[in-house]
Amino acid sequence: RNIIHVDTIDSTNSYAKTIGPSCDDGTVITCENQVEGRGRLGRQWKSHSGSICMSIVLKPDIDISQVSKITQVCAASVSLSLDELKVDAKIKWPNDLMINNKKICGILTEMNSYKSHVNYVVIGMGLNVNNEDFPDEIKDIATSILSETGRYIERSIIVSKILNNFEILYNEFINNKNFILSLNICKLKSNIIGKNINLIKNKEVTKAKALDLGEEGDLIVQYENGEIDSIISGEISVRE
Ligand code: BTN
Repeated sequence: RNIIHVDTIDSTNSYAKTIGPSCDDGTVITCENQVEGRGRLGRQWKSHSGSICMSIVLKPDIDISQVSKITQVCAASVSLSLDELKVDAKIKWPNDLMINNKKICGILTEMNSYKSHVNYVVIGMGLNVNNEDFPDEIKDIATSILSETGRYIERSIIVSKILNNFEILYNEFINNKNFILSLNICKLKSNIIGKNINLIKNKEVTKAKALDLGEEGDLIVQYENGEIDSIISGEISVRE
C-alpha cells in the first residue's frame, strides 16, 4: 500500500486533493497533527493528539451520483473494524459514528469531477481514539473510544483494520457492483432507523421519522403528514 505519513499538516483532505491528480488509486495519507482540519458544511474539525486523521484518494470509474455511497462504504468499514475490537459504535446516517450518542468519528468525502465523471475522490476520516480532553464547546457532543470504554487501543491496529475492511467493501462496491454489503452493515449499525428525527436543511427543521435506508444509501423518512420521502444527503438529529 502507498501510505504517506506526515507529522504536521493543514488537512489530510486538502493534501490529498493536491496530490489527487498524480497519485495512485488507493493512496493513504495520515498525520500526527492536523492544524486546519475541515468538517462537513464548511465546519472546522479540531484534531487532538491520540486521534486518527486519515484520507484516502480513490479513482473509481463511476458517475458523481455514486460518490455518496463511498461515504457509507467507509462508515461501514470503520464500524466493522470497531466491532472486531469489541467497540460497539453506531452509525448516524450519513457519515458519523457514535458511542452513547456522542460522536467519535466524522467522514468528509470530497471529489474532483469533469462533467458527471469522477476524476478522483478523497475520503477523509477523523476518529477519536485515545484523546480524552475535549474543548468546552464540543464536550457534550464529542467523545473518544478511550473516554467511553476506558480502553486504550493502539491507533495503528485500528488503521490497519479500517484499511483492510475498506478494501474489501470498496472492491465489492466498485468491482462487483455490490453496495448492498456495506448498506446492510449501515442498516444493522444505524442508530436512527425507527427514530423520530429532525431534518435540518438551510437552517430549516422538519420533523420526520426515519424508516429505513434505501438501495442507493438514501434515508427513507416519513413526515408528520404521512408523506414518505427519500433524502440523499443532509443533517439530522434524533428527537428524544
Ligand atoms: C465531519 O464530521 O464534519 C467530518 C470530519 C472529517 C474530519 C477528517 S480528519 C481527516 C480529514 N482531513 C480533514 O481536513 N478532514 C477529514
